[in-house]
Amino acid sequence: MIRYHITRTPNRKPRISRIFYITHLLFFLTLIFSFAYAGEYHNSTNKGAPAETLACSQCHSMHGSQGGVSMVYDESTRGYGGSVNAVYSKLLRQSNILNLCLFCHHDNEAAMGAPDVWDGGNITNQSAGLLCYNIGGSPPCADSAKNHTVDVNVTVTVPGTISSPITLNGFTCVNCHNPHGTTSYRNLRDNGTIYAPPGSSSITYMAVGETITYSMTTTATRDNTKYVNMINLPSLGQGLDKYKTSNVVFKLAPTTNTAGIQGFCKSCHTDFHGAGGDSNMGGAEPTNPWKRHPTRDTSIGTGATNLHADSACWIAGTTAAGCAEAFNTTGWNRVIDPNTTDENNGTAVPFCLTCHRAHGSTNHSNLIFGPPTSVGGAGTMMRQTCQQCHNQ
Ligand code: HEC
Ligand code: HEC
Ligand code: HEC
Ligand code: HEC
Ligand code: HEC
Ligand code: HEC
Repeated sequence: MIRYHITRTPNRKPRISRIFYITHLLFFLTLIFSFAYAGEYHNSTNKGAPAETLACSQCHSMHGSQGGVSMVYDESTRGYGGSVNAVYSKLLRQSNILNLCLFCHHDNEAAMGAPDVWDGGNITNQSAGLLCYNIGGSPPCADSAKNHTVDVNVTVTVPGTISSPITLNGFTCVNCHNPHGTTSYRNLRDNGTIYAPPGSSSITYMAVGETITYSMTTTATRDNTKYVNMINLPSLGQGLDKYKTSNVVFKLAPTTNTAGIQGFCKSCHTDFHGAGGDSNMGGAEPTNPWKRHPTRDTSIGTGATNLHADSACWIAGTTAAGCAEAFNTTGWNRVIDPNTTDENNGTAVPFCLTCHRAHGSTNHSNLIFGPPTSVGGAGTMMRQTCQQCHNQ
């Protein structure tokens, strides 16, 4: 049993121990033969993870020191974060949750084998995008218009909650990800659980029994019984390829307001998602016009029938005559495609990640312009997303 993934040399520069690699190899070998999934990392077999990857000591230290050396992750070179020899609340190895996560998910991503979520580096075109694209530095990100602006000090009101305001006292990674794992994709909070840190509104994530199911495969085969598929992976389990946009596809359309990625986002952005006929949404066409952009209960084909979308251009998949400029020159929008094989027929459903990156992009409101072939999309104008489906 590994106790510490990081050992410290006397000059306190973090160094990855050999046992770290051995453990990763063992995890990797175990996962090849495993087909029961939960978030693959920071998760326990109790929650269905195929291998034990919830190493308490990656984030907590019982006494603050090991071998007489401080267990605080040394962030002194970046000028923020904790001080070596100090101890922190909840026995954490950094001064706050954000700095703790970013120690591996930004500063030392290469050494740790963790995806950089801050300003890029070790993955080409991450599915979630980046929390501080092209700027970097210490949190909060200097440009707050293009990302979920995580910051331990800020009190924010969540957009889309005018009907019943939700405020967060400090907005960090763990408002969305459970640091101790869940059975959902990327350990997102789920299953009707409540998280209510001091000073923040109490938020219920999705509904009891609902999780963001997913599958992984080394082939291009789709599994339309799962919300998310990670395809064409060199191997199952851990490894950074499963975080690339090109390997992540969305297959199952939710049938309740609290299900799927949309249901997760709605946990906070309550007014921005709902069924056709809900007062916040309007819809479904043709009897009831939409009042907010639909994210369920419609499809491009339905939109075409109602003369609101252009499935012919979507299906043609090229810059065909009569289709809008810049249509699909480098790929399709990300959509929920509920088919087993087809990628571009009229059944596709638009959803939050058609237009937004979950962490952030190069464009305002985390938007993707056009197809998601880069963190911000390949286009230069917002309408290059819209025109693929609407051709106005
Ligand atoms: C000690 C280093 C370390 C720290 C600290 C750390 N992580 Fe990670 N994290 C990793 C590694 C390594 C991976 C797995 C990379 C892989 O998939 O091979 C990972 C993966 C993840 C994933 C993807 C899980 C999956 O399998 O889909 C999430 C989400 C995540 N971390 C969130 C967090 C959050 C939130 C925090 C702070 C509370 C945090 N991490 C702190 C090292 C770390
Ligand atoms: C990826 C980092 C990470 C790992 C790994 C981790 N924890 Fe935590 N843990 C946290 C963070 C961050 C908090 C503070 C959560 C908060 O304030 O909401 C926390 C809080 C706690 C708490 C306080 C109760 C709570 O939820 O606030 C306990 C107890 C705890 N962890 C135990 C464990 C145990 C036991 C393990 C190993 C099985 C473990 N943790 C692994 C990051 C981690
Ligand atoms: C824990 C609550 C929470 C969840 C869950 C959540 N958000 Fe947010 N979101 C916020 C807060 C708070 C803000 C406003 C502060 C900011 O911009 O970071 C925000 C802002 C945004 C913005 C505007 C960003 C900007 O730059 O102005 C977009 C777009 C967005 N969220 C999309 C999403 C999507 C898509 C999901 C689901 C994948 C989601 N959110 C899930 C809390 C949440
Ligand atoms: C508003 C909610 C939210 C916040 C805040 C957030 N994440 Fe995420 N994160 C997500 C979602 C949703 C995904 C999956 C998006 C996708 O696949 O397109 C994700 C994906 C990831 C991944 C997988 C890499 C990828 O590009 O898909 C890691 C690792 C991760 N998050 C870690 C973190 C860390 C560390 C923080 C804080 C520094 C953080 N997240 C803040 C919602 C959030
Ligand atoms: C068809 C594209 C599209 C879809 C689908 C979409 N959005 Fe947006 N979103 C936008 C655009 C464009 C903006 C910029 C402001 C505007 O036009 O309303 C935006 C803005 C936002 C904002 C910022 C609002 C504010 O007050 O600052 C949030 C939050 C948000 N979206 C969340 C979501 C969530 C959650 C979903 C899924 C339930 C979603 N969006 C689905 C295109 C979309
Ligand atoms: C992936 C496909 C897709 C994308 C991308 C998309 N939409 Fe839509 N949009 C739809 C569908 C499907 C409907 C529902 C049509 C229906 O039910 O009749 C819709 C409905 C609408 C409506 C309401 C139409 C009506 O009269 O009821 C408007 C307005 C709209 N979209 C604007 C936009 C804008 C602006 C963008 C870009 C920011 C955008 N859409 C991006 C598929 C898409």
